[in-house]
Amino acid sequence: MAQKNTSPLPAGTRVPVHVGVIMDGNGRWAKKRGLPRKIGHREGAQTFRAITRHAKNLGVKYFTVYAFSTENWKRPADEVEAIMDLFEKYLDEVRDFIEENIRICFIGDRSMLRERLQEKMRSVEEDSLNFTAMTLLIAINYGGRDEITHSVRQIAQKVKSGELSAEDITDDTINSFLYTSQLDGDIAPDVDLIIRPSGEQRLSNFLIWQSAYAEYYFTNILWPDFKPEDLEKAIIAYSDRNRRFGGV
Ligand code: FPP
Repeated sequence: MAQKNTSPLPAGTRVPVHVGVIMDGNGRWAKKRGLPRKIGHREGAQTFRAITRHAKNLGVKYFTVYAFSTENWKRPADEVEAIMDLFEKYLDEVRDFIEENIRICFIGDRSMLRERLQEKMRSVEEDSLNFTAMTLLIAINYGGRDEITHSVRQIAQKVKSGELSAEDITDDTINSFLYTSQLDGDIAPDVDLIIRPSGEQRLSNFLIWQSAYAEYYFTNILWPDFKPEDLEKAIIAYSDRNRRFGGV
């Protein structure tokens, strides 16, 4: 007997393999209600959980969220502190993703994060290593330029030691040293769809190498108000577009 199609997406929808989300608008969401910004981040973290689950249920294979950028350290210390506290709390709570067969990885320079947070990150990564339904990449202290610089530095070291010759450096070489290619046995493909809520229409240093051919979806909804149906809308919009990758 044919299996019933339980996906809420229309039949024939092309689901992107790799979706990236810039979780923007938490601060404005709180301000509109006269609440402290950290409450906006708390609500944003709830949305993050619900949308991650939904992405998996829709068949997305790699889901990358921009949680904290290399530029976010410029925020007031108490806000940075509140965001770091949230990460710690949520790393405990995301353990229930593990029951859903979701692998969790982190991208970014973690050396500047608190030791306890780094420890939790390592432990979540280890415990979810063999899960296959979807890979969730959480970008913390992540910047696209920083990632490329980090890759180039490693390549330069290999050239210096004679392991690699400069003529042999290709796109693939640079790609292979990006955080997204170093997922302990896995390589995330280029991102297909980038979603940015909150009305801003820019990339803000997110996956700048990996998004060379990405489609963008912008919406005015603030991240804490972003609903599973909004993810479906973004995927349907993506599916309706004609990607030519530079061809005709
Ligand atoms: C951007 O909104 C949001 C952030 C810098 C923090 C995002 C963090 C979370 C949603 C918590 C997620 C938790 C985990 C474990 C991944 P903004 O502050 O820039 O909003 P604004 O533009 O309205 O000021």
